[in-house]
Amino acid sequence: MKWFGNGSRKNGAHKEDTPRAVIDIRDITKTYVMGEIQLQVLRGINLKVMPGEFLSIMGPSGSGKSTLMNILGALDQPTSGQYFLDGLDVSKLPEQELARVRNKKIGFVFQSFNLLKRTDALRQVELPLVYAGASNRTKRAKAALESVGLGQRLDHLPSELSGGQQQRVAIARALVNEPAMILADEPTGNLDSRSGTEVMKIFQQLNREKGITTIFVTHDPWIARHTNRVVMLRDGLVIADREVANPLVAGEIERPSEAEELESVFKEAYYGGSESEYN
Ligand SMILES: Nc1ncnc2c1ncn2[C@@H]1O[C@H](COP(=O)(O)OP(=O)(O)OP(=O)(O)O)[C@@H](O)[C@H]1O
Ligand SMILES: [Mg+2]
Repeated sequence: MKWFGNGSRKNGAHKEDTPRAVIDIRDITKTYVMGEIQLQVLRGINLKVMPGEFLSIMGPSGSGKSTLMNILGALDQPTSGQYFLDGLDVSKLPEQELARVRNKKIGFVFQSFNLLKRTDALRQVELPLVYAGASNRTKRAKAALESVGLGQRLDHLPSELSGGQQQRVAIARALVNEPAMILADEPTGNLDSRSGTEVMKIFQQLNREKGITTIFVTHDPWIARHTNRVVMLRDGLVIADREVANPLVAGEIERPSEAEELESVFKEAYYGGSESEYN
């Protein structure tokens, strides 16, 4: 098991022969002000994500995961610190510019799919291309749906699709603009375990075959073990940042019972290392 702390990849990442980080955040803080009260939710986060990485962000409720994702997704600005997205410093961009960056560089997948009720799959996936004023819309939307295994479901409404299929439409919609990365907020949170596996398979395939940088927020350690790196937050700080030694391949082995899972996860995903390191 290999551990690396905040910013330990600093050396080398800026050399010209190494690829540019998709995400490079430096000392990001976020403070919410509510009347007299100031709530510091992020307290100095450093994170570098290289192209093609597949990582999950975990941590207790209230630790700042969604706050961080909103900043990563250019939906919100940090209070201080810098954010380079695909080389561009977005930490001080005005909202209009942010929106443009968001549409071009980021695909979002949400827990509740966020599909339009009366719109068929093909049209749902075409919409981001319409907003972007892109050409070849139908062809590209079809290709995106084919890449998530839904080439036969183009004219289905969300109500005519299973939960897993609906989430796959949402994934196709997220990737049709060819974003630099996909941000997914509990994308399997509303799915039963079979559909969750189905969706996880798609994410793994897109990451492996197209090299799409993918960041997940998940509460589910089993899901996190299917990604390549786990970043743990607590109280607005990164308390662990670890490569997953042998990521699971979706669907390859049965999910163990909850008790077994907790046992192994406690050692694997949360702590890593050998027993002696944390006794
Ligand atoms: N817009 C806001 N204004 C004020 N406080 C906020 C705002 N958004 C979040 N917070 C506070 O910031 C803290 C972190 O919230 P955040 O949503 O980032 O947590 P989280 O790790 O995503 O939790 P969960 O796992 O429950 O989704 C919480 O204490 C929350 O109450
Ligand atoms: Mg959250």
